Amino acid sequence: MVKLHDLYFKPFVSEQKLDAIVQKMANDVAADLGDEVPVFIGILNGSFMVVSDFVKKYPKPCEVTFIKLASYEGVKSTEDIQRLIGLTQDLTGRTVVILEDIIDTGNTLEEVHRIFKNENVKQLLIATLFYKPEAYNKDFKLHYVGMEIPNKFIVGYGLDYDGLGRDLPAVYQLKTTQHMTNLVLFGPPGAGKGTQADFLKEKYDLVHISTGDVFRFNIKNKTALGMLAKSFIDKGELVPDQVTIDMLNKEVEKNADAKGFIFDGFPRTNAQAKALDQLMETKDSQINAMVALEVDDEVLVQRLLKRGETSGRADDADESIIRNRIKEYYKKTAILKDYYAEQNKYFGVDGVGSIEEITVRLSAAIDKL
Ligand code: IMP
Ligand code: MG
Repeated sequence: MVKLHDLYFKPFVSEQKLDAIVQKMANDVAADLGDEVPVFIGILNGSFMVVSDFVKKYPKPCEVTFIKLASYEGVKSTEDIQRLIGLTQDLTGRTVVILEDIIDTGNTLEEVHRIFKNENVKQLLIATLFYKPEAYNKDFKLHYVGMEIPNKFIVGYGLDYDGLGRDLPAVYQLKTTQHMTNLVLFGPPGAGKGTQADFLKEKYDLVHISTGDVFRFNIKNKTALGMLAKSFIDKGELVPDQVTIDMLNKEVEKNADAKGFIFDGFPRTNAQAKALDQLMETKDSQINAMVALEVDDEVLVQRLLKRGETSGRADDADESIIRNRIKEYYKKTAILKDYYAEQNKYFGVDGVGSIEEITVRLSAAIDKL
């Protein structure tokens, strides 16, 4: 991943792939031009890198020159093209090949055609390394296209974001979600997970996704996924992971601008943890940490018994039931602890102390992510 100014970019086209694409373009142009000596014209600034590699790979004699046009501000193309350096040689009767790093709206290309209107060249060919068909709104023919790409902002290999990134030897694409902090929150019964989730949500502006709540919401509102889940529950079967993941996906998409998520109640198995990783990857994001509140069994038992005195919850009144729930919790989470620890993403936080003390410990772990 690459950060330029305020934005994050992910790997998109590797050096090796660029090399192969440029090689193919050079071969294709050479094959079409026969023995003619072309004039390659790079459009500065962006094209300097592709032009340099292209002419080195061009298997026959050629001339190289540049013109300098500018149209971009930040990550948005503007209508207004400025001619900063124009043509400096007579091109009458010559075969001219424009070498572009990228063709986006086609505004720059329109200006190039304007420049060549009265130059009496033999032919004007357009070659571009990258081409965004969804953004292109002109009719000029593109004779050579290295790679068609989606309408997303890219940097590297000559292309910049506000001046930065031109020097990168590979190409990176703007991430669809920017930097997120995604946590998987764990804690044995009685550890105060709910209280801490509320605090984390506030402090880090995260969206709390409790799988239990998501299920209840979908079933109550009779969503397609809710009905599907219910059909398994009614048969006494486990809801397949994919159904749960699809529900979580909907929650994540509902909150696409979130600074991150707290997953609560999911994952519970290795397979689910992997599925969650894959889900986050489709969002150009990742799980950053499993945060687990650690509380000694005896303390938990005492807390829950005390809660049982006032809450009236039957499962909080019986010590052996409590101990069993705690044992179950450790049995289930041990696998996940290993899964995340292997990726250095497990953060155990001492859950004994006042609410404020615990929140301070949690914050310390999260601030380091
Ligand atoms: P146009 O919209 O086709 O005129 O593209 C104008 C110029 O915008 C290109 O020559 C690039 O300098 C720049 N540009 C277009 N798309 C991108 C991109 O994804 N990253 C960086 N620069 C871009
Ligand atoms: Mg350019």
